[in-house]
Amino acid sequence: MSTGTSRRGFLQSAGGLATWSALGGGLLPGLAQAASVGVRRNVGNMTAADPVLLTYRQAIKAMKALPASDPRSWSYQAAIHGTMTTPVKTAWNTCEHSSTFFWSWHRMYLYWFERICRHLAGDCGDPCWRLPYWDWASPTQRHLPAPFRDTASELYESNRFTGMNAGTDHLQAGIVDLSGCWPMPDFYGASGAFSGPHGGVHVSIGGYMGMVPTAAQDPIFYLHHANVDRQWNLWLAQGSRSDPLSDSTWKTQQFTFFDEHGVEIHMNSCQVIRAAEQLDYYYEGEPEQVPQYCERHRFPWTWELATLKEFPLALRLDARTRNADLPLADVRARLKAFKQSDEQLLLLELDDIVADRPSDIVWEVHLGATGKAELADGSPSFLGIVALFGEGLRDMKHGDHEFKPARFVFPIRGELLKRVMKAPERMRLTLVPRGVGGEGEKAVPRTEAKTELGRARLSIQTRRPAPAEQ
Ligand code: C2O
Repeated sequence: MSTGTSRRGFLQSAGGLATWSALGGGLLPGLAQAASVGVRRNVGNMTAADPVLLTYRQAIKAMKALPASDPRSWSYQAAIHGTMTTPVKTAWNTCEHSSTFFWSWHRMYLYWFERICRHLAGDCGDPCWRLPYWDWASPTQRHLPAPFRDTASELYESNRFTGMNAGTDHLQAGIVDLSGCWPMPDFYGASGAFSGPHGGVHVSIGGYMGMVPTAAQDPIFYLHHANVDRQWNLWLAQGSRSDPLSDSTWKTQQFTFFDEHGVEIHMNSCQVIRAAEQLDYYYEGEPEQVPQYCERHRFPWTWELATLKEFPLALRLDARTRNADLPLADVRARLKAFKQSDEQLLLLELDDIVADRPSDIVWEVHLGATGKAELADGSPSFLGIVALFGEGLRDMKHGDHEFKPARFVFPIRGELLKRVMKAPERMRLTLVPRGVGGEGEKAVPRTEAKTELGRARLSIQTRRPAPAEQ
């Protein structure tokens, strides 16, 4: 499922050191520039007067004061992520979604953005300034952090949903539920799974944040993504997890950024897999980072995804609850024989989801719901959410990225798995629309797009011994 297209001929084993040497040294950038490892702190523990936020405000002001042609300016940096402005300048529209580079590209992006902020705010104490993160999955941090709601602050953005900015709305529990993400055993599956709630947060905040081509213009974007970046470390820290170290495209594809002096930088995923060691930061409260090494990959297994059954649906998704019955009779034997273990996981995939434009609806996905009971994110049938942000939106043509339908994957576990394994004749798939912000059930969708869910699949992911190295 690699989407890498252009390999630009850098030495694989050197991991792009050639690029660094052009900058005047063989050291990786952080090591060359910053003396000490710094901590990216939880914004939930900060007041508006926290020096970290004051420095961030100063940096935003300084970036906004630069001419738009300066690659360090606020608008240029945001355009690297995405923009609708033409003509397109170097590195614009290069963010990676629904690709194997989702985590690593955004990590690089944040890293250089952080260095630019630090430099322009004139901050380099010991340790130098680091971005904070917004731990939105924490039940106590579902509101947009208060310092970002102060209309007099550089952290404010007026086009977010009114309720979010007023502090009356908050992220719904189901949208930021990561319980379906942690169990994903392979890197591609996991980064895809985390990108679901990630998109839900974007859509819930609205305004610039709601769409890829504008998202990075909102100062909360970078704290949101620091948290997404933190999940990468936390996912690895569960053990038995690995970056895709035998994927040479993943390891060598170069991406373009700018450093704090406006100098163009090229970087690949191998240069960002050990945050503390290569990039000089760790997250407040995180367990010890699991070091991954591109040069010494000896991960003993790979994961294989096999379709058990595909269900063509062509189901319209809108502001009404929609159902589809998934017939299971012919896979009964295989479902009954299924054994969940460290080596096998049963997944529900929802694929070929296409909308004509963004909307502010997200859908809760339920499997095996019966009767008329109110469904909620706490229901036993709840699997996760579908929120369209980085993919599946027809009118959001983005740089050279080709249009891709959206795909969401949910592990089926626990009680729900037991019910699926009983293999009834059919099981009901239910998509419950939620307006974003506010209290789940009561929220009303405000706008509607034409959205269709193409197909569902029941699949089994299985661990296999890794092929021997050549
Ligand atoms: Cu590249 Cu959260 O967006």
